[in-house]
Amino acid sequence: MEEQKKYIRALIELHRGLERQGPGDTDYSNYIISQIPELPTNPRIADIGCGAGAGTLILADKFKSKIRAVDFSREFLDELEDRAKQRGLEHLVETIECDMGNLDWESGTINFLWSEGAAYNITFEGALKAWRPLMASNGIAVISEMNYFTSEVPEHVKIFMQNAYPAIKTESENSDIVNSSGFEVLGIHRLPSNAWWNNYYEPLRKNMKSFKNSNDSIMQSVISETEEEMKFFEEYEKFYGYSFYIMKAV
Ligand SMILES: C[S@@+](CC[C@H](N)C(=O)[O-])C[C@H]1O[C@@H](n2cnc3c(N)ncnc32)[C@H](O)[C@@H]1O
Repeated sequence: MEEQKKYIRALIELHRGLERQGPGDTDYSNYIISQIPELPTNPRIADIGCGAGAGTLILADKFKSKIRAVDFSREFLDELEDRAKQRGLEHLVETIECDMGNLDWESGTINFLWSEGAAYNITFEGALKAWRPLMASNGIAVISEMNYFTSEVPEHVKIFMQNAYPAIKTESENSDIVNSSGFEVLGIHRLPSNAWWNNYYEPLRKNMKSFKNSNDSIMQSVISETEEEMKFFEEYEKFYGYSFYIMKAV
């Protein structure tokens, strides 16, 4: 357990100061938002696993409604609060430090749930199960999930994923999960791979360089795993990546 905590600490350290803690892109997020049905006035919105708030700030700016921004890392939430202040959006951001799998909010209250690159922490299926009760009637959820883009996945990729994300599924399998979790799929959109490189891996590489001489062995193993992950993505990105699932609570 102690090792696990140290591992998470190293991961947080490595991702501090970055605009994004995972793959994503502002223009693409705006495109996804343009695809959702109209929300009620004064919608209740949550960004779950918000990190330093790349998505939260887009949502706050767009909807001018308060966003509940959930993450278990105080460091990222502090960064989000600073950024919200810099952009004059602090009155629209409520940071909540807690476990995404244990939200004790009143049921049936969220009109729009956003979660980018984070649901995998409790698995896509676990996230849908945990969050469905929070959704208002006809509420909209957008979750980006790392999945296979094809059912013809090379053995090498499958073996890599057994370690990286054993719960990974195809889009079609995930659609079945959505349909049996009290949601209906309204659309599935694949995040372009340049959103991994330009907005996540390249900035992360710079952070990795600054820790290169650290004598923390856990940090060193997080860095080499991340380098391996990048190489792997470069070679096999046509087989997997993030898809945004736009869903309606039914
Ligand atoms: C890959 S990052 C994505 C962050 C942000 N959504 C983005 O796109 O930049 C995943 C986030 O989930 C948070 N996280 C991981 N497990 C969590 C949990 N059980 N409860 C709350 N937050 C969690 C991490 O601290 C991290 O900020």
